[in-house]
Amino acid sequence: RTPLIIDTDPGVDDAFALALAAASPEVDLLAVTTVFGNVPLSATTVNARRLLALLGREDVPVAAGADRPLVHPHPHRARYAHGSDGLSGRSDTLPEPTRALDPRDAVTLMTELLAAATAPVTIAAVGPLTNVALLLAAHPWAREKIGRLVIMGGAVGGGNVSAAAEFNIWSDPEAARRVLAEERLPTVLVPLDLTMRCAVDLDWLGRVEAAGPVGAALVGLTAEYQRHYAQSLGWPGLVLHDAVAVAEAVRPGILRTTRYPVDVDCTFGPGRGATVADRRRTEVNREYGVDQEQAVDFALDTDLDGLRQFVLDR
Ligand code: BDR
Ligand code: CA
Repeated sequence: RTPLIIDTDPGVDDAFALALAAASPEVDLLAVTTVFGNVPLSATTVNARRLLALLGREDVPVAAGADRPLVHPHPHRARYAHGSDGLSGRSDTLPEPTRALDPRDAVTLMTELLAAATAPVTIAAVGPLTNVALLLAAHPWAREKIGRLVIMGGAVGGGNVSAAAEFNIWSDPEAARRVLAEERLPTVLVPLDLTMRCAVDLDWLGRVEAAGPVGAALVGLTAEYQRHYAQSLGWPGLVLHDAVAVAEAVRPGILRTTRYPVDVDCTFGPGRGATVADRRRTEVNREYGVDQEQAVDFALDTDLDGLRQFVLDR
């Protein structure tokens, strides 16, 4: 089984991502680390702990990480999509955690798990990339222990939080730049271009709800989030962003990828937080001196129905 660490800011779609990982026999979920994002760190952390309690996975430690971006603090949150508590105002319907928060911070816990790992570890990062950037900056040796980074973030054809930027990258562009453009780890980036196509409808949600108490509790967290996405989709349903990335973490190859050199816009103009993919042909790139090593695998396609069914089955 592939050792997996999930770095997350729950978040309604993060909740589905955690549920997917917790129910996937291909992975050994070593830890869940939390980061500020959709709501402040204190809320994402208690949400992660409650979700693991719901999922019967309190064997998995939760450690809290960064409470703000690396360089430029900003007050932006995604309450408009995920509700005041990050879970549509329904986090208090989840069980109280019985396991204490891990006393270590996120980077320390990740570091210790990586040091002890005997197989390459996958890190699935589905919030701002602050914790991952700190890990790689402070512990360069950790690169050798990471088999793959699977990241929900970025956009090729236009953002959600701004015209150019996707929320996770926009939340800490300097961290994202470090992780995506400088570290050169084997990375799958799962951008909005794909995740927006992985929307699910009320029928799908009804089937999750009918699957049992865990499914019903998860669907119970979606009301606010559904309201937000009903507007952007134009039909009642929601988008599974983070679960799409975790699907790739548990089943490598479920998403189809194309490799592009990438950089992250860290300026303060309208492009801040954009993931700039260089989609010129490889030969042309060479001609222009584009660094092919500075490339990540963009997940831009999948069997959409197959993916929805995979998440539903789990
Ligand atoms: C990303 O932003 C967050 O609101 C979601 O949880 C997801 O990780 C989508 O842009
Ligand atoms: Ca998230």
